[in-house]
Order: sequence, then C-alpha cells, then structure tokens
Amino acid sequence: MDKLLEIKDLSVRLLTAYGVARGVRGVSLEIGEGEIVGIVGESGCGKTLTAKSVLGLHNPERAEVGGSILFRTKSGETVDIAKLKQKELQKIRGKEISMVLQDSSTALSPIITVGRQMEDVILAHRDIKRPEARETAAGLLESVGISEPRMRLKCLPGELSGGQLQRVCIAMAMSSEPRLLLCDEPTTALDSVTQAQILELLKKLSKERNMAVLIVTHNFSAVKRICDRVYVMYAGLIAESGTAEEVTKSPKHRYTADLLKSIPTAEKKDRLESVAGSLPDVYGDISGCPYAPRCKSACEGCLKGVSMTEFSPTHFAACIKGGDFGG
Ligand SMILES: Nc1ncnc2c1ncn2[C@@H]1O[C@H](COP(=O)(O)OP(=O)(O)OP(=O)(O)O)[C@@H](O)[C@H]1O
Ligand code: SF4
Ligand SMILES: [Mg+2]
Repeated sequence: MDKLLEIKDLSVRLLTAYGVARGVRGVSLEIGEGEIVGIVGESGCGKTLTAKSVLGLHNPERAEVGGSILFRTKSGETVDIAKLKQKELQKIRGKEISMVLQDSSTALSPIITVGRQMEDVILAHRDIKRPEARETAAGLLESVGISEPRMRLKCLPGELSGGQLQRVCIAMAMSSEPRLLLCDEPTTALDSVTQAQILELLKKLSKERNMAVLIVTHNFSAVKRICDRVYVMYAGLIAESGTAEEVTKSPKHRYTADLLKSIPTAEKKDRLESVAGSLPDVYGDISGCPYAPRCKSACEGCLKGVSMTEFSPTHFAACIKGGDFGG
C-alpha cells in the first residue's frame, strides 16, 4: 500500500500564560492510501492536537510545531504540511484533506438550511452554478444514507437528528472528494446504534472511494469495528501501534492492556478495571516511560527510558515488558 501521510517526530508546544504546554512530544505515524487508521488514548493525551496538525490548524503565534508531516498530493508531489505557508495550506485543507468533528451541531449554522450550507461548501470547491450544486448536495446526502435528500436539504439543522446531522457533516466533508478524512471523535455524541451506523458508513465510503480515514477515538470498540491499524497514544507519545487485531488481542504495552481492561463488553459489564492515576503534567518534562507512575508492572529499568520494540513487521510498542505483564 502506498504511503499517503507520514508524520515524523511531530511535536506541538503550546505557548500559554502558564508556560509551554507540551501537548505532543514526538509522534510518528503513517497512513496508506485508502487505509483506516485509529488513534486511541485517554482524554488529554494529544489526539486532537495531532489531527489538527495534519490540517495545519495551529495558530503559529501560540503554537510551535516541530517534526514533519509529509503528504502525497493528488498530483503525486510530496509536501511537508508542517512547513507550508497558509496560502499553500488552503490548497490542501478542506480539499485533499477534510475533517469531521465530534459535535456536528457546532459545525453547522442553526439559522441556515442544510441545503444552503452544503451548496456553499460545494461551490467553494467546484466551478459550477448553484442549481447544479443543489443536485450535487442531494446526491451526497443520498450517498451517506439520508432518505428523501431533497426534502432534508430544505431543513434547518435543528430539524434533523444527531445521527442525520453527523451524516450531513460527513457528506459535506466528502464534497471535495478528499483522499484523507480526519474524524475527531465522530460518534461520541451519538447513541450506540447510531455510532455503529456512522462507523459502517465511514468504512463503506473509504472502500468505495479509496479514501484514507484517520479516526480519533477513546473507544477500542470503534477501532475493532473499522480500523485496519491503530496507534495508542499516551502523554503526547505513541505507546503502541499495530493492526487492530494485534493491538486489541495481544497488547504489548501495559497502558494498552490496562485500557482494554477498562472497556465494557457483553461478558464483563460489571467487572471493569479503571486505569487509576492521571497523565503526567503537560507542562513538565518526562524521563523514562511516561506511564511508569501508574503502571503496576513498572520496574527500575522503566525509569531509564524505553525505546520502540518490533514484535511483528506491523506491531511495535515502547514497553520493557513487551506483553509479559505478570498478570
Ligand atoms: N490551546 C491549548 N493551550 C494549552 N494547552 C492545550 C491547548 N490545546 C490542548 N492543550 C493540552 O494539550 C494536551 C493534549 O490535548 P488534546 O486536545 O490533543 O487531547 P485529546 O487527546 O484530544 O483529549 P480529548 O480526548 O479530551 O479530546 C492536553 O493536556 C491539553 O490540555
Ligand atoms: S515500560 Fe515499564 S512502566 Fe512503562 S508500561 Fe511498560 S512496564 Fe509499565
Ligand atoms: Mg480531543
């Protein structure tokens, strides 16, 4: 599979009134053409900052971005998004790479019809007239599984359900025929049945259009459902990466293993083990394994520093124990 995106040693330092917050401390990840990749980790580990970096959304006056974000454009050229000027970013943002956010209600204006908002987005990408844009909008709604699309186009966002609105946002993101779709917690605000439907929709669109998807989530069930590969993040770093099956069935990092134990499943609804403790201070330095203060398998060696170990050609983890956690 050809590489579409390759992030190398990404760091994001946020310049705040309290000092420099090190939201991302050195993330490397890659996505192939048409691949569905998950980033999973608990709140505050740097998932959104990583996804926003791919769209070059940080304010340069308040954030320092280090490392490189190499993206292969439609024309076959490789650009480093971390180094592009705003004008060059505009050629990629919302066109070759689109984003769907957690809460669709914040992405849409409540006082403008869905149709008008979709048309405006379509007209921004395509050299066509409004009636044609309306036809395109109806087709896009149909492709994301919305029934009676022409009628829905006349609705205000408040007249649609949360699941329908998320479908509208996905349809809008698809209007530029992106090669990479970034989804930041796209299903968190939805009930479990609708969550499953939206995930299936993303999978279907990815396959039909050979579109890569980077999905940010807290949720390992979503990873198992649609991802080809997954990166587990902790404290602004990658703790583990592998195929969805490798990481969920045979975790090699103690943090991944603990996260997996904390997910409810049909068999262990009442026996959840929460991960005690919290992430390291985002303003502080980290030496050794960042998970050591919370890790029940920690030993002296973990404090000296841990490097990525290969467990298979696709499976890597930065943990001394390498899956042998001793119960
Ligand atoms: N603008 C900012 N200024 C200061 N700190 C920030 C800023 N944005 C993010 N951070 C910090 O950087 C860290 C990573 O933030 P990020 O939003 O990427 O987390 P996340 O993994 O997406 O969490 P969640 O699952 O809650 O959305 C957090 O500690 C957060 O508080
Ligand atoms: S390296 Fe050590 S502290 Fe870190 S997760 Fe593995 S066992 Fe725990
Ligand atoms: Mg987030």
